Amino acid sequence: MNGTRIAGLGHYLPERVLSNADIERMVDTSDQWIRDRTGIEQRHVAAPHETSSSLGYRAALMALEQARVNPEDIDLIIGATTTPDGLFPSAASLIQDRLGAVNAGAYDVNAACMGFLSAFSAATQYIATGAYQRVLVVGTEVLSRIVNWQDRGTCVLFGDGAGAVLLEAAPYGGPLGFVLHSDGSRKLYLYAEGPCGPRDAEGNGAPPHLCMINMDGPALFKFAVNAMANAVREALGKSQLSVADVDVLLPHQANLRIIQGTAKSLGIPEDKAVVTIHRYGNTSSASIPIAMSEAARAGRFEEGARIAICSFGGGLAWGSMIYEWSTTGVAPERRPVAAASASGG
Ligand code: UT7
Repeated sequence: MNGTRIAGLGHYLPERVLSNADIERMVDTSDQWIRDRTGIEQRHVAAPHETSSSLGYRAALMALEQARVNPEDIDLIIGATTTPDGLFPSAASLIQDRLGAVNAGAYDVNAACMGFLSAFSAATQYIATGAYQRVLVVGTEVLSRIVNWQDRGTCVLFGDGAGAVLLEAAPYGGPLGFVLHSDGSRKLYLYAEGPCGPRDAEGNGAPPHLCMINMDGPALFKFAVNAMANAVREALGKSQLSVADVDVLLPHQANLRIIQGTAKSLGIPEDKAVVTIHRYGNTSSASIPIAMSEAARAGRFEEGARIAICSFGGGLAWGSMIYEWSTTGVAPERRPVAAASASGG
């Protein structure tokens, strides 16, 4: 089985920033409420001409530039999005075209906020089996297009953005264990109907407000902490590791209190968690790759570090992966100190 190195990372946030003060002017809310209940201070919103594929393209370009890889050398592009430019073609195909990745296959994954982790896990398996050498994963969203801007329960939470990761076959690095879960019976916790849903006797589809994000916030909140913490425990078990071996927690960014609750439940110090939610809000499929790209650039991941990635969202779908970080593809001489002492070497 091949290992996987992180060859390049990129992220892109649209220029326009929507602050909590801006949202105070749109619905009955307050900066204080949003900060206290979610940790969010601002989010980015796409310009009218921007789409998931255009944001994703910018993030992908940054990843390729960092990797110094030519687009023709990519074997596969997997997009993760709930807000593609259209029902088809996929955002990944549009990104493939703009990049000039003429030798790459392309498709999208829609697993709401679990989209990136689902796509990323598939990418690592194509590489592990030797099927492909280089796979680009792009999480990208323009959630502002499906947010109900009159619903204060949801409109304060979401933002637009994109993150991209280029994975390459290597002797060292990659997933040690992962789990993906789904419980479709809880679909009403978080959903947005679309143009292809059931019709009534008159031939009408869902009313417009159901085609936007609908959410049972408190139910989802309660579910999220347990689901993510248990998924990390399961992924650690599959990796034959324990919580003490986790160097960095890289969670989906939905709510600061959910991130804190997950860390607490696991007994992982909060400062080991990557947090971007205050600046970007919840960008669904894009939240983990944006956080990964930023944290890597800030030097948060040492070679050999064990990153516990976890996510949850519409489906419901949730999961976790323990990822052994490597940009070089070569095993480091020693593991990062904190984990080495905690795991006895
Ligand atoms: O990627 C996954 C996506 N979604 C999530 O992860 C969401 C998970 N859930 C949450 O993050 C939280 O449930 C929210 C942030 C959505 C809500 O926080 P909460 O602490 O669960 O508040 P709540 O819904 O229980 O509402 C408490 C109060 C209510 O007022 P009353 O009935 O106590 O008078 C709400 O009407 O806060 C009110 N409220 C607001 N007040 C000001 C709800 N939204 C707002 C708002 N501004 N934006």
